[in-house]
Amino acid sequence: MEIIHVLMAEHRVIERMVALMKKELGNEALSSSANQAFIYAAVDFFKNYADTTHHGKEEGILFKSLEAKPLSPEHRSVMDQLVNEHRIAREEVKGLYESAQRYERGDLDAIAHISAHLKRLTDLYPPHIALEDRHFFLPAMEYFSPEERGQMLDDAYDHDADMAHRKYVDMVLRYEEK
Ligand SMILES: [Fe+2]
Ligand SMILES: [Fe+2]
Repeated sequence: MEIIHVLMAEHRVIERMVALMKKELGNEALSSSANQAFIYAAVDFFKNYADTTHHGKEEGILFKSLEAKPLSPEHRSVMDQLVNEHRIAREEVKGLYESAQRYERGDLDAIAHISAHLKRLTDLYPPHIALEDRHFFLPAMEYFSPEERGQMLDDAYDHDADMAHRKYVDMVLRYEEK
């Protein structure tokens, strides 16, 4: 077991959420309350799972460890692209959340923005995941010794163990600040 296997297993879950979002995009009745609840669930998923849990391990453990290695120009450029796509995804999720809130306050124009954010997110993730799975993760592991690989896997488990706690401590904080 390696950190990239943990990350690849998470990709399979993200792909399932992306498929659900694509289904939602084809759904004309975006305005029903069930669909609104789905949009908020998708925002929660992308914020806490895809970003903090998953990108958190990519950027905070794998990419950070790669930074200390003499990366080839090609691997450096792919890693920069991946980090940039994480940033774009964060912006899109923020936009999706803000559009959902505007819609909830009665702004009917927000539906078009919700669809646009969903569309951009569902377009962004499949090639991003394919680039990591097929072209980046395996060659990236070649830079590490068995001990370093073991350490990254331990760090990945520690990161995940902390996640549920972080999410709910944040939730308590948000309500305390209201
Ligand atoms: Fe990624
Ligand atoms: Fe990923």
